[in-house]
Amino acid sequence: MRKLIIAGNWKMYKGLEDAKSFAREVAPIAKGMDTTNVVPILAPAYPFLAVLQRDLEGSPVKVSAQDVSSHPDGAFTGEVSAAMLASLKLPYSIVGHSERRAYHAETNAIVREKLLALMQHDICPILCVGETLVQRDAGNTKDVVVDQLSGALHKINLYNQGEIIIAYEPVWAIGTGRNATGEQAQEVHAIIRKWLKDKYSETLANGISILYGGSVKPENIDELLAMPDIDGGLIGGASLKPDSYLRMLESAVKRANGEQ
Ligand code: PGA
Repeated sequence: MRKLIIAGNWKMYKGLEDAKSFAREVAPIAKGMDTTNVVPILAPAYPFLAVLQRDLEGSPVKVSAQDVSSHPDGAFTGEVSAAMLASLKLPYSIVGHSERRAYHAETNAIVREKLLALMQHDICPILCVGETLVQRDAGNTKDVVVDQLSGALHKINLYNQGEIIIAYEPVWAIGTGRNATGEQAQEVHAIIRKWLKDKYSETLANGISILYGGSVKPENIDELLAMPDIDGGLIGGASLKPDSYLRMLESAVKRANGEQ
């Protein structure tokens, strides 16, 4: 059975004190939940990765980076390598977020390089894919998502299910308050799983977690998690407040434990 994942993407929000007080509040409560079948994740900005890891120690909450350099090392001012993330024993990193693709000109080829860098260091990539509104309205959602998947995973073999997480994030739903409905998201998640099955195997495809992202909040998480191919959320705005994050975590715990 796939675990449900509640991943908070803090983007460029939260300074040191804010991150620390979030951890102080969330860690003991998360520790008290039955998270056997749920993985809570938080992705702070780079400077706070180590602090957050330390402050969440002993709780089930894992820490993720938001991005990684495609280069192994060298004169790349401002960049952070996969080896550096690995030296923190970081288990996850987001890669190919639509904001990186849009504002930092990240192509599928660059996303692929980053993915490879992470995999070489046994860091599980949370690979983001998703169409813009123009692409959706033109009926191109499937083509765009498949193109992003095949570009990022070109000639990359996967050997076990825990090697990658996919996040379907329709760009029109990110930060807009307008989430995809459960059905709309499910339709694309099923396409993604089918693509994984055709490229790899049914067993592998059935074991890979596919998250939905785009205006997920406590009010709509249940509808989304009820879908057969939605295995959690990658959550921006609604992950910034401990109470809201914990409510979504609670929803996932209930669903994972068959209480919903
Ligand atoms: P949002 O962001 O939940 O604020 O829409 C999601 C994301 O960008 O990962």
